[in-house]
Amino acid sequence: MTSTSSRASRQRETWTSSTGFILAAIGSAVGLGNIWRFPGVAYENGGGAFLIPYLVALLTAGIPILFLDYAIGHRYRAAAPLALRRIARPAETLGWFQICLSFVIAVYYAAVIAWSLSYFVFSFDLRWGDNTAAFFTGEYLQVGAPEISSTVVPAVAIPLVLVWVAVLVVLVLGVTRGVQRVNVVFIPLLTVTFAALVVRALTLPGASDGLNAFFTPNWSALTDPAVWIAAYSQIFFSLSIAFGIMITYASYQRRKANMTSSGLVVAFANSSFEILAGIGVFATLGFMAQQASTTVDQLEGLTGPTLSFITFPAVISQMPGGNVFGMLFFGCLVLGGFTSIISILLGVAASVQEKFGLGQKAAAVTVSVICAALSLALFSTTSALLALDTVDQWANNIGIVFSAIVMAVLVIWVLRKGPTLLAHLNTVSTFRLGWWWIGLVAVLAPLYLGYMLYERVRTLIVEGYEDLPQWYLNTFGWGTIGLVVVVAILLTVIPWRGRDDPSFVPWPPLREEPASQQQPVLPEQEEVR
Ligand code: PFF
Repeated sequence: MTSTSSRASRQRETWTSSTGFILAAIGSAVGLGNIWRFPGVAYENGGGAFLIPYLVALLTAGIPILFLDYAIGHRYRAAAPLALRRIARPAETLGWFQICLSFVIAVYYAAVIAWSLSYFVFSFDLRWGDNTAAFFTGEYLQVGAPEISSTVVPAVAIPLVLVWVAVLVVLVLGVTRGVQRVNVVFIPLLTVTFAALVVRALTLPGASDGLNAFFTPNWSALTDPAVWIAAYSQIFFSLSIAFGIMITYASYQRRKANMTSSGLVVAFANSSFEILAGIGVFATLGFMAQQASTTVDQLEGLTGPTLSFITFPAVISQMPGGNVFGMLFFGCLVLGGFTSIISILLGVAASVQEKFGLGQKAAAVTVSVICAALSLALFSTTSALLALDTVDQWANNIGIVFSAIVMAVLVIWVLRKGPTLLAHLNTVSTFRLGWWWIGLVAVLAPLYLGYMLYERVRTLIVEGYEDLPQWYLNTFGWGTIGLVVVVAILLTVIPWRGRDDPSFVPWPPLREEPASQQQPVLPEQEEVR
């Protein structure tokens, strides 16, 4: 163990190529958020008109903050807590806040992958029958009252254990042999499967009605602040930014890595996937509406878990060759979800490894086992669905937006690292950024994200959420955020046991010379606190 850990600290694993990094980053970004979350969010928030706030959010916050994550990770070469600590010691807390939040997401995200795995199998014989709602909440999840239940549902627990075993194996294999390899296989497979799914959806009778419903813009939605909030939240979750995960991924990049261009590829690939998912899902709903002799806007259950696990199975049962369609759809959820969850767990494991001086395998096992145990305890029971929805609401609309604001203000305004990070990105990348990047990250983003956060918190306090009892929201909603803050502080104050190499020097920019002769520019080094 000692030799592993000292070897690990001497030599940091890397992605073996830019393609490896890009595929892994796309794997993290493309997931349940694209296939399950986006179509419903877009439909609810103005349909075609939603694409405007969505693109604005992508360009003004998504891509700039993705670059900020990349810059921090690549320059300070560590998972979020250590990378931020290397900028300034107290900033470590922000790293832990991000990592704990990702951990929370992994706990329930795994449950949705497990459901998808079950539904993949159920597609063989359309096991959900005619009443898909009763099957999902009753027979399958056995949903009970909003309470904390300890009754385990084996049909959920078994696939959930399988998901966690797979996550554990990949993490133990490490960055190159595990995570990269899975993504190199799964992402092309996902793309092909997904393309087949969309093509099939587009050839269904009634598909064009669905597309009209999806793309017909409701311009008045653009004046509604809630629509803009939804667009920004979607972009954050979907691109996996401000979760500390992209900091960690970028830290495994080689020294000479074209960071901004990779970021653009990842961001546009992710959004293309998302829009394609909208097209596929709504073409299918057009078919459903036609079968029921109604219109898409009369259909119900077009968002969240209902869309994937109640509405979709119902359509699948009606369609010729539904079994194959079901396998493709749920197969895509499993593939996309799996490549995303391993990114989260890698971020958490790397942070724990660095802080506690563990070997890579020991950290991978510890983190996966703890996360799996919590996931099983909380989400394989009869209270899973409600708890999941509530935790998701708070983690994504409050936790992550807060994290992005604090990161931008801290790194750019307080620690004044904007120019250094800008210079770093520009010397390693071909797509050059200007001062506009700092402006977007430091001025615009905190302003509108701050407003969004204020609006969201106010609404949740005044109106509550989904008519759930206050004690329930205090436990699963506010309680989750409170717990993440407390654990982040505790993890910061625990003495650093790993060896944070005292001689660590951030990667200095490379001189612009022919690749073969590039030398580091030394000793123009910034002080590392
Ligand atoms: N981006 C993933 C999705 O769209 O499903 C979810 C996700 C992955 C969120 C990694 C956060 C994260 F750190």
